[in-house]
Formats: sequence, structure tokens, C-alpha cells
Amino acid sequence: MTLPLHEPAIRIIGGQRLSGRIAISGAKNAALKLMAASLLTDQPLILDNVPQLLDTVTMAELLSHHGVTLNQQGNQWTMQATNVAPTDTCFDLVRTIRASIVLLGPLLARCGYVRLPFPGGDAIGNRKIDYHLHGLQLLGAQVQFDDGFIMAEAPNGLHGATMHFPNVTVTGTENLLMAACLAKGTSVLHNVAREPEVGDLIACLNNMGARIEGAGSETLVIHGVDRLQGATHRVIPDRVETGTYAFAAAMTGGDLLLTGANPDHLHSELASLRAAGANVSIGAEGLRVTAADQALQGVDIITDPYPGFATDMQAQFMAMMTRAKGASLITETIYENRLRHVPELQKLGANITVHGQSALVRGVDQLHGAVVSATDIRASVSLVLAGLVAEGETWVQKPYHLDRGYEGLVEKLQSCHATIERVG
Ligand code: EPZ
Repeated sequence: MTLPLHEPAIRIIGGQRLSGRIAISGAKNAALKLMAASLLTDQPLILDNVPQLLDTVTMAELLSHHGVTLNQQGNQWTMQATNVAPTDTCFDLVRTIRASIVLLGPLLARCGYVRLPFPGGDAIGNRKIDYHLHGLQLLGAQVQFDDGFIMAEAPNGLHGATMHFPNVTVTGTENLLMAACLAKGTSVLHNVAREPEVGDLIACLNNMGARIEGAGSETLVIHGVDRLQGATHRVIPDRVETGTYAFAAAMTGGDLLLTGANPDHLHSELASLRAAGANVSIGAEGLRVTAADQALQGVDIITDPYPGFATDMQAQFMAMMTRAKGASLITETIYENRLRHVPELQKLGANITVHGQSALVRGVDQLHGAVVSATDIRASVSLVLAGLVAEGETWVQKPYHLDRGYEGLVEKLQSCHATIERVG
């Protein structure tokens, strides 16, 4: 297939069984918030196992705009916010990542004032922030909007409060958690997110001197303290990267050892993978996934906040189901627009019917290569997975989506015998 491609792309020739070992990187959705936590203290915060991603580089640049000094040695970042600037006018940077929203709480708690552009991120839904702003108001902030900026101020500092989240929000939980650490008095947050990345942030904040109780439960109690000190913290492994490669091993009929993975963070996803017929074993070195003894079977999933099936692994699971025996009903409950990978998978020959927030995948015998592109990190990687099993060449355009969320994706797959390369 000769393509008039005048833009970068990932080129894949399908049909290779993946075999070998992949080292799982640090979790993007933990690292970004841990980096923001550096704003809460004037002491050095040292983070190990930070993945080298477009998003972590963007977060580092954002933090430097706010006065944080950063030093990177490989996957170790040392950050220190001796003097903090509470405002940022860098629209284009702030709007590239959703995680920029978690600068709000720390800056307000540290400076008593913050002015930030509205956050951006993957085009998978409305991505509202009303729970974040309501919570900051409960903690004593006045919140206003000013032509695309959010402004919040608490001249007398923040005070403890009780907040009931109407729905689970990961960054909403993290934003208010960080703000409450330095509030006067005790805060109680109900119906919080319980994702492992939230637990990782809590562990780091408590290492910094915060007093947070209830990690892993639906209610967090935060006793405010006057100041936090520095700490050294290792970012947890990325469960979404782990699930992505686990599905890749199963759908290519391969055998992968995912070293450094924490299987405790993927119970739902691994249960669905086993139900489809793949062999999943947990050993001292990590998670091993080998192909099913016979063809993969169709399995239904419904995404849900943790510990349910992660929305961030829905697209990848769908790619795996395109060639399973039977049908798979996949329902997305977290985002209203997170089935945009369906038309791209259909270009590869997948048989998928969408009704509202559900996609019915009927397994086909074979996919065929095509030029495809996606609009978000996880949709992009689902196309790479499908390309690994499609007959012939698949070109995945806009590889920067992959670079935002997967460290060394092409190299890791090449090391396991995939025929994959970055072009242009
Ligand atoms: C985090 O996004 C992750 N991103 C997402 O991963 C992940 O999909 C999501 O949590 C759910 O697990 C980061 O951590 C940087 P939410 P977040 O606030 O916090 C609604 C990836 O691929 N909502 O839990 O932005 C919202 O509209 C990314 O790595 C409100 O209504 O997600 C959405 O429908 C994609 N009001 C739902 O809740 C609010 O104030 C979940 O959003 C906040 C959220």
C-alpha cells in the first residue's frame, strides 16, 4: 500500500504473534497529579518512575510557568516550588491536557489565588468541572469566570468542609484532596474516586506530611496542616498500559510477560480477559498472558468507576473482541462520546453496531489493513492493536495521541516481534 502520507503515522504489518517481555512504565494518570503536588510545598519533591510522555513534558512545562524548578534524570524528576506564580496565560499548553485542572487546588491552597485557562484533553465528552469548582467554593473560595479563564481566590485561606460528589470524578477528588491538605480544619469528601492513581497521590501526600485517612474507601477525611515538606515517591505502574499489552498478547495468539505490572489494579479487566479464554498468570516477575487454547470468546463489558471495568481500557478490549467467536456487547457509561474508535475499526473490517452508549461487536474471521486515525489516546492504541492482527498494512495517523500516553510503544512492540514502525 503506497500512501500519500504527508504526516507522521505508525505503520503496522499484521500477523505476528507477540512474544517476549515488556516492562510496564509508571502510570501517566498518577504521575501528572503527583507532579502537581510539588506546588503544595517549598521543599523538593522527588518522583521516580515518571513515564517519558508528551503529557508529563507538558505538565513539567506548565509547572515551570508557575515557578517550579524541575530537574529530570531519566525517569526521575526533582521539583521544587520555592516561589509560586498563581496565574497562567498559556492557553495552548493548558488546553492540551485535562490534567491541567489539578493545578487549581494546589495553587489556590498555596497562594490564596489562582487564574487558569479552562482545561483541555481528549475529545471524549463534555469533561465538566462543576464538581471541582463547587468543592473549592465549599472550602471557602470565590470562583469566577473571565473569557476562558477560571479565577478562584481565598484571601483568608481555605477552611475544612464536607463535600458529597454527585458522581465519581477522579481529578475532582484529586483537586479537592490537595486543596484540603492545607485548609484550616478537617474536610470530609464523600463518594470519592477510588482509582489506584488516587491512592498513589494520597500515599505521596501523607509522605509529605498530610493527614489523609480512608484511602481506598468511598470517604476521605483530611485534617488540614500548616505546611507540607518534600518527599521521595515512586509512581505506581500503569494499569492501562498493562491492560493494553495484555489484550495485545491474547488477540495475537502470543505470550507476553509484563514485568513490573500490578495485577491488583486490573481485577475487572483481567476477569474479562480470562472469560474470553486467555490464560493469565501472576508470578514474581509480573503478569503473564498467553493466547487462549482456542479462539477468544465474545464477552460483554460495561465500564464503571474503579474497581469496575476501566473506561480507559474499553477501546482496547473492543479491538480484541473484533475477531472473537460470537458477540460482545460493550457499554460505555463514563463518557458520552467514547465510541469514536468504532468507525475506524469498521474501516479495518470489524462488524460493530452502535446503539446509544453500547456497541455490539460481532467477531469476524479476519481484519484487513487500512489507513485509520483516532481522536484520543486510547482510541489510537485500539487501532494499533487491531493493526497487529489485520491482514496487510495498517497506517495509524496522528501518532502524537499515542505519544501522550504510552512510553516507547513502538519500541516495546518491536521487541516482541511486531512488525511496526514510525513513519514521517
Ligand atoms: C480521569 O479523567 C483520567 N484522566 C481519564 O483518563 C479517565 O478516563 C477518567 O479519569 C475516568 O477514569 C486523568 O486522570 C488525567 P472524571 P477525569 O472527572 O478526572 C464527569 C486517559 O485516557 N464530571 O472522572 O477528567 C465528566 O464529564 C484519560 O488517560 C462532571 O460531570 O475524569 C465525565 O463524564 C481519558 N463534573 C465523568 O464525570 C466534574 O466536575 C468522569 O470524569 C467532573 C467530572
